[in-house]
Amino acid sequence: RTVYRKDYHAPEYLVDSTRLHFELQPKSTLVKSCLQIRRNPDAGGGLPPLVLDGIELELLSVSIDGALVPASRYRELPEGLSIDVEKPEFLLEIHNRISPEDNTSLEGLYLSNGMYCTQCEAEGFRKITYYPDRPDVMSKFTTTIVAPRQYPVLLANGNEIERSHTEDGRQVVTWEDPFAKPAYLFALVAGELQHIEDSFTTASGREVKLQIFTEAKNIGKCDHAMRSLKKAMRWDEEVYGREYDLDIFMVVAVDHFNMGAMENKGLNIFNSACVLASPKTATDRSFQTIESIVGHEYFHNWSGNRVTCRDWFQLSLKEGFTVFRDAEFSADMNSRAVKRIEDVSMLRTAQFAEDAGPMAHPVRPDSYMEISNFYTLTIYEKGAEVVRMIHTLLGAEGFRKGSDLYFERHDGQAVTCEDFVRAMEDANGVDLTRFRRWYSQAGTPVLDVSDEFDARSGTYSLTIRQSCPPTPGQEEKLPLHIPVAMGLLDSDGNDLPLDDDDNTQKVLEVTEAEQTFRFEGLKEKPLPSLLRGFSAPVKVHYDYSTEQLLFLMRSDSDEFNRWDAGQRLAFAALEQLQQDFRAGRTLELQPELVDAYRSVLANRELDQALVAEMLALPSAQTLAEHAQKIDAEAIVAARDFARRELALALKDELRDCYRRLQSDKPYDPNAADIAERSLKNTCLAYLSVTEEPELLTLAEEQFSEAANMTDSAAALAALTNHAPDDIATSALENFYRRWEGDTQVVELWFGVQSGSARRGTLDAVRELMQHPAFELKNPNKVRSVIGVFANRNFAQFHRTDGSGFAFLAEQVVALDKLNPQVAARLVTPLTRWKKYTEELGEKMRAALQSVMDSGKISRDLYEVVSKSLA
Ligand code: ARG
Ligand code: ZN
Repeated sequence: RTVYRKDYHAPEYLVDSTRLHFELQPKSTLVKSCLQIRRNPDAGGGLPPLVLDGIELELLSVSIDGALVPASRYRELPEGLSIDVEKPEFLLEIHNRISPEDNTSLEGLYLSNGMYCTQCEAEGFRKITYYPDRPDVMSKFTTTIVAPRQYPVLLANGNEIERSHTEDGRQVVTWEDPFAKPAYLFALVAGELQHIEDSFTTASGREVKLQIFTEAKNIGKCDHAMRSLKKAMRWDEEVYGREYDLDIFMVVAVDHFNMGAMENKGLNIFNSACVLASPKTATDRSFQTIESIVGHEYFHNWSGNRVTCRDWFQLSLKEGFTVFRDAEFSADMNSRAVKRIEDVSMLRTAQFAEDAGPMAHPVRPDSYMEISNFYTLTIYEKGAEVVRMIHTLLGAEGFRKGSDLYFERHDGQAVTCEDFVRAMEDANGVDLTRFRRWYSQAGTPVLDVSDEFDARSGTYSLTIRQSCPPTPGQEEKLPLHIPVAMGLLDSDGNDLPLDDDDNTQKVLEVTEAEQTFRFEGLKEKPLPSLLRGFSAPVKVHYDYSTEQLLFLMRSDSDEFNRWDAGQRLAFAALEQLQQDFRAGRTLELQPELVDAYRSVLANRELDQALVAEMLALPSAQTLAEHAQKIDAEAIVAARDFARRELALALKDELRDCYRRLQSDKPYDPNAADIAERSLKNTCLAYLSVTEEPELLTLAEEQFSEAANMTDSAAALAALTNHAPDDIATSALENFYRRWEGDTQVVELWFGVQSGSARRGTLDAVRELMQHPAFELKNPNKVRSVIGVFANRNFAQFHRTDGSGFAFLAEQVVALDKLNPQVAARLVTPLTRWKKYTEELGEKMRAALQSVMDSGKISRDLYEVVSKSLA
C-alpha cells in the first residue's frame, strides 16, 4: 500500500460532533461512539457508502438514528468499516471493544504501569473506534470515562463538565472540548495520579489553571516543567501574539511512549524522560530538553491545533514551524549561539545522512507506505530550517506579519504548506515561487564558492554555484532560493561595511545555478565569512587555508561561524589522519590544531558553553556523514588519536580550567551555570582520555562528591570509558545501587554503558538486556540500550566481523512483533550500507536482508527495509 499526495480528495462525510463513552477495563474496554454525520457539500453528489477507519477492533453494533443497522447494510473491511447511507445527515452510534492491556504498539489506548493513556497521532485513533481518522475531519468532542475506584484521576480534552458515580461505585467523568479538532488530537488518561498545580494569567487577563500529573513517586520532578510551561505561554504571547484558549492546560507524564511528547488539545501527554526532572536526578541537558519540548507541545496549540494539517503530507506545516518556534524560544531562554550549534550539529549528522540515504524525502513528501515513518529529521529539523529561511528573507517583522495573517486566515481550518507560504507572501507582498522548491525537492544542496579580487578597481566578487545530488525518485534538481548570510573581514579581523548604511552583514539571495555578487571600494582582498548562523541547510565548499580558518576562529563576529571554522579545521586534520591510517603511516596531529584549541581554552571572554562546543571534535557520526565511503576503522582510529593527542598536549591547561570551574554553588540550571559545568566536564573528559592515574583521580573525586546529576554522570562516563576495570565496575555498581529506584537515572546508566567504546561491547550490551530494569516493551529502555549502542557506540557497532549489525537486526525483528513504530526507527543505522567500504557494507546489507527474510514484518518496518535494499 502506497499513499500518494496527488490522490488527495476532500472527505465524503463530515462529523459535526463526536460523543465518546469509555468503560475502562484492561482486557475489554467498551467504547461507544455517537457521531453526528453530514454529507460534505464540497465532496460531490450522491450518497456513497460511509467508510470509517478501524484496526483491531471488536465490533459490537451499528445504529443509525437510534435503530440498529442490520449486518447486510455494512461491511467490515481489513482496516475499517463501510456503511450504506440513505440520508445526507444522521446520527451514527457504534459500540466496540478493545484490549488496552494487549496493546504493545503504544498507539491508540494502552496501559503504562497501570495507567490508561492514549497516543493517536498520526493514525492511532482508529485503534480506539471506527472513525474517519484523517486530520481534515474536525469535530467537537465530548468524552465520558467510566472507571473503577483504582483510577481516581480521569482526564480528557477540554473542560470537565460532569462527575458522578455508577450504582456499582465506579466513577463517571465527562469532558467537553469546545474547539473542533481532528481525531489525532484526542486524548484520554486514567490512573492513580498526583499532580502539581499553578496558574497563568493571559495577556488579556484570563486565568488558566495549569496541572502536571504523574505517579506519586515522581511528584517532586514536575517543577521545572511547570516553570518552562509558564515561560512558553508568556513567550508565545510576546513573540507571536498567541494566547492560550481554554481554562485549563494539563500535562501527563507516561513511562511507555514512542516519541517525546504529544500536543493533544488541553491535555499534553509526555514521555516521562521529556518532562520529569530534579536537580539530583536530571542533567543540564535534560533540563534544557524538557524546556524545549514543553515549549514545543505548548506552541502546537496554535501551530498544529487551532490551525492543523489537511493531510499527513503536510506534516511539516505544523512540525517544521513548531520546531522553529521552540528553537527560538530556547535561544531566547539560553545561549543563542550554543542552541544553534547543537541544532546544526544534529542536522548535519543525522538529517544530512537521511537526505543522502534510501529514505530521503522532501519536506513535503509525495508518497508513503506508513506515515509513522515520516516523523523524520527532514520533516522536523529541515522543515524548521525552511521556516527559518523565510524568517531570514522577510525579517522578524515581516515574518510576524505573515504568521499573524496565517493564524487569522486559517484559524479552525486544516490547511497545507502552500497556505503557509502564501500567507507569508500576501502579508509582505513578496514572491516566494522559487523558494517553494524547498518543499518539493529532497537532498542537501551544495554551494561551491569561489572569489576574486581586482586590486585596481577594488572589486571583490564572490561566485556561488549551487547543486544538489540526486535522491531516490528525483534525478534532476532545480536551483533553489537560498539565503546566504555573510560578512567580509579585513586583515585586522574587523567586519567591513557592506552597504551605505554601514551594515556589516548581508543576506545574499542565491536563486540561480550560478551567481556572482560584487562588493566595491575595497582596499585589500577580504576574507569571507559565509552562511553566518547557518542561514540555509546546505553544505558550503570554499577553499579556506589553515591560516584563514584560524583567523576566523579568533575573529569572526558571528559566533556560529567561529565554531564552524574550528570544525572545518578539525575536519581537515581528521581527514588527514584517516588517510595516514589507511596508508599505514605514523599518525601525527597538526600542531596548528593544538594551538588553536589551546587559545580557545584560554579565552575567558567567550561564552563558556561556546568554548566547550569549540573544544569538541566532530563526532564519528559527523565524520561518517561527510565521507564519500565510510571507513569505520579509520574514523575511530583518527578520532581516538586526535583526542588523545589534544589531551596530552593540553593537559596543564585543561587541568587549570577544570580547577577554575569547580564550584560549590547550589545547583541551578541557568545558562551561565550550565555553561561552566559544560566546559568543566569537557575538560574532565579530555583529562581522563590520558588515562593517567593522577588525572583519573579527578573523575573519581567528582564522582563521589558530585551534588548534581550533570557532574555525577560526567564523572561516571569518564570512569566507565577510561578508568581501570575494577574502578569502572565499582563506579557503575555504586551508581546503580544509589539510583535503582529512579527510572530516568537507570536509563542514563544504561546509556553510559551501551555507548561506551570500551565497556559497551556486544556481550556487555546483551547482558544489559538481561538486567531486571530492561524491558523490551518500553521504548526508552530499548533506546537507552540498543539505540545508544547502534547510534552512538560507533566503534563497537561497526566491528569488522559485522556482529553489531547482526545483533541489531535480531533485536529489530523481535521488537517488530511488539512495537512496529519503534522497530522501524531502530533499524535506521543499517539502512546506510551503500555508503560503507565494501566489506563492512556487505555485512550491513546482509543484516538488513535477514530482517526482510525473517517472516512477516510490519508495514512500518517493511517500508524502511524494502526501500533500503532496493
Ligand atoms: N506531534 C508530536 C510532536 O512532535 C509527535 C507525534 C508522534 N507520533 C507518531 N506516531 N510518531 O510533538
Ligand atoms: Zn511537534
